[in-house]
Amino acid sequence: MMGIPTSSSPATNKSNQLGFTHRYIPSLDAGDRAGLTLLLLHGTGGNEDDLLPLGRELDPNAGLLSPRGKILEGGRIPRFFRRLAEGVFDIEDLKFRTHELAGFVEKASGMYGFDAHKVIAVGYSNGANIAASMLLLKPQTLSGAILFRAMVPLVPDNLPDLSDKRIFMSSGLRDPIATRQEAETLSELLKQAHAVVDLQWQNSGHELTQDDVHAAKQWLVLNKKQL
Ligand code: MLT
Repeated sequence: MMGIPTSSSPATNKSNQLGFTHRYIPSLDAGDRAGLTLLLLHGTGGNEDDLLPLGRELDPNAGLLSPRGKILEGGRIPRFFRRLAEGVFDIEDLKFRTHELAGFVEKASGMYGFDAHKVIAVGYSNGANIAASMLLLKPQTLSGAILFRAMVPLVPDNLPDLSDKRIFMSSGLRDPIATRQEAETLSELLKQAHAVVDLQWQNSGHELTQDDVHAAKQWLVLNKKQL
């Protein structure tokens, strides 16, 4: 992987002001406001460093904003929202955390100067689920999303208008957690909200594979101008 700034980077030491421990790496495109920012959302037990190499591989020039989930399951396992059991979510907490995370992105845009209208979520598992929740509850935060192993996080009372959103989903045919039915139901829900959804299947389980990364990268190249 190419050189990714570490915790010693001055741009990454603003966690206190923004409320989330996080990393931020500015876009390499000319001018802060020119490029996309990838909002990297890790899986259960991950942290703000996990998806930096993935983000860099998906787009060598994009800004990277990578928060750590604030829930500590069992006192030590970071997540973006509480769950009652595997795949069974605490919906009230999910709603609260979704708005909290959207507020973080908005404040980060003000602090770091990236374009708040060019933020693409890249989430894996728990991170993909809160990204999907953000699309459904706070759609203005994202212009698109790459969702790896996503489930239906919640069904909102009113579907938002997602006609200006492009969403890539990559799901595992043998995933016992984010099952085929979950992925298909989420894809249908997003389409009902008029999003442009590309759901691709990998010959894998819940784990992320190189095929996921290749497929997402291709999708991003093809869709970048519309995002
Ligand atoms: C996970 O993090 O494993 C999945 O999102 C499912 C869950 O949250 O239970």
